[in-house]
Amino acid sequence: MKLIWDSLWRNVQLATMAGSSGYGEIRDGAIAVRDGKIAWLGAEDELPAGHDAAVTHDGGGAWITPGLIDCHTHIIHAGDRSEEFALRLNGMSYQDIAARGGGILSTVRATRAASEQELHRESLPRVRALLAEGVTTLEIKSGYGLDLETEAKMLRVARRIGRELPVTVRTTFLGAHALPPEYAGRADAYIAEICRRTLPVLAEQGLVDAVDAFCETIGFSPAQTERVFETAQRLGLPVKLHAEQLSDQGGAALAARYHGLSADHLEHLSPAGITAMAQRGTVAVLLPGAFYFLRETKLPPVTALREAGVPLAVATDCNPGTSPLTSILLAMNMACTLFRLTPQEALTGITLNAARALDLHSEIGSLEVGKRADFVLWEIERPADLAYRLGLNPCRAVVRGGVVV
Ligand code: NIG
Ligand code: FE
Repeated sequence: MKLIWDSLWRNVQLATMAGSSGYGEIRDGAIAVRDGKIAWLGAEDELPAGHDAAVTHDGGGAWITPGLIDCHTHIIHAGDRSEEFALRLNGMSYQDIAARGGGILSTVRATRAASEQELHRESLPRVRALLAEGVTTLEIKSGYGLDLETEAKMLRVARRIGRELPVTVRTTFLGAHALPPEYAGRADAYIAEICRRTLPVLAEQGLVDAVDAFCETIGFSPAQTERVFETAQRLGLPVKLHAEQLSDQGGAALAARYHGLSADHLEHLSPAGITAMAQRGTVAVLLPGAFYFLRETKLPPVTALREAGVPLAVATDCNPGTSPLTSILLAMNMACTLFRLTPQEALTGITLNAARALDLHSEIGSLEVGKRADFVLWEIERPADLAYRLGLNPCRAVVRGGVVV
């Protein structure tokens, strides 16, 4: 029988990230694509007899990993916050700055003022920086609009990026990110407005894939977060949560209770929160860029999460205030150096477990027959090199849906 493939990559080393541990390595391998999906992979000397491909590529011995997934970003925003960076270096805290109307609200002002076109133009270089490092799937949150019009504008720009660039975009509604000035002192009324109008309207427009909130003393309470989750549930949308970043609010357990896809940050996560996440399979998304940039000292409980069997993901948290980071490879390195993940855990964290955090793990996140042919060719000696060097980009080629980008 002749197997007709659209394309075949030979002479490659595969880090499939499939299976329960390790990189799922296949040395001297090959990978074949048909109709945008992985049709075959294995050792080159096991290629089926009589196979045939329209195009055959010589990988030159390169390593291939799944396409990388940045599962937590606020990459669409206007303006920057470099003055606040300087203020913090002079001793002011993130919370102090937020209390003075800076922080998230200063980006809200800039994002409201920007036209849709400007917002797109400003965000594009950041997205391109991630794509250059092999990112093929990107989560993008709203949350710098805090009114229907601007949240919609952000989410439309996110959708546009997914249409125009070689990247799969998953949008997350983060209306409960901060209290907008027009609702000062009336947080419950703001949450009621999100639940009654903003979220249902945006969901109706097809702009929302998941729902997030900032559950924190400077954000929203667990009770307010729960109201947002109830609305999401009613609309059939999965939830995730900025939880336990600056204090323990019991947010991770709340997210788990609502079958949250992920709880993110987690520096102040309690043992009860870990148990709740483990029971529900909620992914722990670690954001070492924010930990680094805020010069935090309290580490997320990685050892306990690992022992409890909670899947660990890693993301850039790309945002103008706490993590102006557009390198997924640097996030990987920081996850290792700061949080003591192994390079293999870090790579799993930006592939398979990141896919889990977006509920896309049946389609992407590992190299397996039937999954989408999103993969990256790297000029490296071994997979751990991706987490090892700082500032070198060894990405040689990106393949998305079987097509070389
Ligand atoms: O993930 N924690 C809340 N949200 C962002 C920060 C957003 C901002 O400061 O603009 C975060 O760190
Ligand atoms: Fe965030």
